[in-house]
Amino acid sequence: MKSRLLFAVFAMFAAFAVSAGMARAGDAAKGKEIFNGPAACGECHRTTAKKSGGPGLAGVMAHHTDEWLIRWLKEPKKTWEENDPETAEMKKRLKQQNAERPGMKVRKNLTDEELADLIEYLHTL
Ligand code: HEC
Repeated sequence: MKSRLLFAVFAMFAAFAVSAGMARAGDAAKGKEIFNGPAACGECHRTTAKKSGGPGLAGVMAHHTDEWLIRWLKEPKKTWEENDPETAEMKKRLKQQNAERPGMKVRKNLTDEELADLIEYLHTL
């Protein structure tokens, strides 16, 4: 009887750990491949602080929440136009306050999994 109870507690804990792990985001190594591969982020962005077409992305996640980045990567134009405080801060920092539209373009519709991997990768820069 006692061992059954222990087993039930263990099973609940395992289920919890699995769901927590799944909720917790992507794989940075895969994110790097997506960045340089199909999403072509590297076409415009360096992973250092240096600007190329777009801003250098070193340390970029100090400025952004994951939630904002998901929106930005799905719909840069809409995010730009809505101009929430995080977007406004970015425009100001990049001296783009007067630009009507973003320079950012996403070359591929990214799946939720690809987005999670990319974000995990950006956190490492
Ligand atoms: C066509 C060029 C281009 C491509 C491709 C591109 N970006 Fe951008 N990105 C920009 C530009 C330019 C900005 C600066 C804001 C603006 O003008 O749109 C920017 C801004 C950003 C920012 C915010 C930078 C900051 O300093 O706050 C992040 C993060 C970002 N891009 C990530 C990505 C990722 C990830 C990809 C690939 C899925 C990508 N970008 C693809 C041009 C590009």
